[in-house]
Amino acid sequence: MSHFKAIFLLGIASLVLACARAIGFIRYGYSGANGPDKWGSLSSDFSLCSQGKKQSPINISKNITSYDPDLKPADRNYNKTRATIINNGLNIELIYDKGAGNVTVDGKNYTLERMVWHLPSEHTLDGESFPMELQLIHKSADNNITVIAILYQYGSNDAFLLQLQDELQQLQQDSCSGDEEARIPVGLVQMRTLVRHTRKYFRYVGSLTTPPCTEDVIWIILGKVRKMTDEQANLLKAPLSAEYKNNSRPTQPINSRTVRLYDEMHQNKNSDSKKSS
Ligand SMILES: *[C@@H]1O[C@H](CO)[C@@H](O)[C@H](O)[C@H]1NC(C)=O
Ligand SMILES: *[C@@H]1O[C@H](CO)[C@@H](O)[C@H](O)[C@H]1NC(C)=O
Ligand SMILES: *[C@@H]1O[C@H](CO)[C@@H](O)[C@H](O)[C@H]1NC(C)=O
Ligand SMILES: *[C@@H]1O[C@H](CO)[C@@H](O)[C@H](O)[C@H]1NC(C)=O
Repeated sequence: MSHFKAIFLLGIASLVLACARAIGFIRYGYSGANGPDKWGSLSSDFSLCSQGKKQSPINISKNITSYDPDLKPADRNYNKTRATIINNGLNIELIYDKGAGNVTVDGKNYTLERMVWHLPSEHTLDGESFPMELQLIHKSADNNITVIAILYQYGSNDAFLLQLQDELQQLQQDSCSGDEEARIPVGLVQMRTLVRHTRKYFRYVGSLTTPPCTEDVIWIILGKVRKMTDEQANLLKAPLSAEYKNNSRPTQPINSRTVRLYDEMHQNKNSDSKKSS
């Protein structure tokens, strides 16, 4: 009998939506009076959004990238972890419990805290925008930030989004009022598809793409564009009001920054030529 009860509890525990009020929240937007070009004046805490010189996203042009043989593979070490999916009114995000794993950048550990979906993509490649960009946000013990971004085009189902389908549908049906955010615990999230080895990535120093636009964020944009279906993109847009269905910040001036390129093919070629010489 206790076996029976456990199954029943699991069934209802997975889709309980709760509403929570965000404290001190300033509603920025993606068009009009609180759109991206006004963010810097919405709060004194947001001044970097208009005055920063190292802002994100950027348009990654081939002519500003340079292959850097010193860059290491951006291998992620994630564990299956409990998470909560959130509609904060601005975007859909997934917040991980402790222990989700990490990525090592320049010998330093950055722990995965959350991920957020932006539609369309925020970064562009040679001017090309993609239907979606998933950003995995990591923090080090001393509060430095590394974001790994994955670009998506339309095609077959994305396995990672597939496992969140029921919760995304639930977010669409139930909403919270005003400035409250809607939260649904999703249980253990399978991370397998997110740790796939990466052969190519772009790296530069930028900022958060939402206020307060904090700078000195390390950006790693994976070279491999992944696929999702049109229906999956719609699941991410449907819970948001019309103004936030497009929630990507326009590209920012590159200024004096360079974009470094990690390319395994290039690296192998180099080591082969060294071997044969
Ligand atoms: C590089 O691309 C940018 C557009 O993003 C263009 O303005 C610039 O002239 C190009 N530079 C060179 C050296 O081709
Ligand atoms: C996550 O997995 C790694 C190995 O992949 C392990 O070293 C680490 O302890 C795990 N973290 C937690 C909190 O379980
Ligand atoms: C992005 O860069 C490409 C060159 O790589 C250029 O042709 C295009 O105009 C740029 N777009 C923007 C919006 O800067
Ligand atoms: C989304 O909004 C941005 C900035 O407001 C704009 O540049 C872009 O064209 C919009 N994209 C779509 C697909 O509507």
